[in-house]
Amino acid sequence: MKKRIITKNLEEFISLVQIIAKNSLSRLNLDNGGGATVLALYGELGAGKTTFARAFAETLGVKEKIKSPTFIIFRKSKIENKEWSEKVFENFYHFDVYRIHNEKEILNLGWEEIISNPRNIVLVEWADKIESILPKNHIEVVLKHKEEGKREVEVMMAKV
Ligand SMILES: Nc1ncnc2c1ncn2[C@@H]1O[C@H](COP(=O)(O)OP(=O)(O)O)[C@@H](O)[C@H]1O
Ligand SMILES: [Mg+2]
Repeated sequence: MKKRIITKNLEEFISLVQIIAKNSLSRLNLDNGGGATVLALYGELGAGKTTFARAFAETLGVKEKIKSPTFIIFRKSKIENKEWSEKVFENFYHFDVYRIHNEKEILNLGWEEIISNPRNIVLVEWADKIESILPKNHIEVVLKHKEEGKREVEVMMAKV
């Protein structure tokens, strides 16, 4: 599955993220190897990765404010919307791996355990840096900065 959408402004972008977040529910029905749902976010500085993560988290019912986690690599938050937390995801992980030098730094943070729990939803900014340790069936999200606040959003889900 591959979809490419152009959003004209921040408001449209956020609406699209809300739809993508709600659709991630359907991941439960896929054979994803019993692991976490992982969204790999690609895009240059300012493309909208953190904005995507924030809107996504809000849609799922994360109450904490999602900030750029660049200086701490990742943040774990509880999903407080019962509609989600009881049926699907319990924990929201937001990684920003821009500053790491190799994948081992992420493995040392308990990565394997995080991605093996089906109750986890994991978003990774600068996913290109940890490509080799992403689970096979991750969802790829490519963000591109276009003119005047426009963004191109490409979502690719592996066939399983
Ligand atoms: N879809 C969008 N449309 C318009 N402005 C956006 C959009 N996404 C992000 N921005 C703005 O661009 C700036 C950087 O966005 P951010 O999400 O931090 O990018 P990244 O995490 O990719 O570096 C922010 O000021 C944000 O308000
Ligand atoms: Mg960011």
